[in-house]
Amino acid sequence: MKIVDLDFEPLIKADAIEKRVKAIGAQLNADYADTKPIFIGVLNGSFLFIADLIKQIDIPCEITFTKLASYYGGTKSSKIRDDIDFIMDISGRDVVVIEDIVDTGNTARYLIEKLKIKGPASLKLCSLLLKPKSLLSKIDELKYVGFEIENDFVVGYGLDYKEMGRNLKGIYKQVK
Ligand code: IMP
Repeated sequence: MKIVDLDFEPLIKADAIEKRVKAIGAQLNADYADTKPIFIGVLNGSFLFIADLIKQIDIPCEITFTKLASYYGGTKSSKIRDDIDFIMDISGRDVVVIEDIVDTGNTARYLIEKLKIKGPASLKLCSLLLKPKSLLSKIDELKYVGFEIENDFVVGYGLDYKEMGRNLKGIYKQVK
């Protein structure tokens, strides 16, 4: 399948994503029972993951969003851009950051440091995808991971290549 100028092939099917999202949701319900966590979705790439995951949450919770980007429409991680200043008061609260993908980990680390200053009671990261071989150093807060993948560039289920492919139900990897 061609997206803009690159070729992609299927990597993770929609029903496998659905199953995994349900499992993570169940885990979050158990881990955060009685704590009224704040979920912070990191836009844009995680919008479908956030929406599907949050529907699995049946404990009282709050949901807010922030917007960070590090790709600028290409396929290589670069400088982080901070689009929305984060305003909700998270001091003393249990916070779960929802990301689409942890690649080098720079974006996640940047966000974690920024949030820690605000004094949450606890701070964990939940990412649909993780590229372990690309991760520059371990992120202790990364507790929930949907799928570990190779160092392939992927699109679909919210993730884009030059803003295209976000609407795909499954996840596709670039054919090298
Ligand atoms: P990191 O800072 O290198 O961990 O990159 C994280 C961000 O880069 C993610 O939130 C995505 O927006 C983007 N990203 C990383 N890998 C991919 C990919 O394979 N496809 C699309 N976007 C990606």
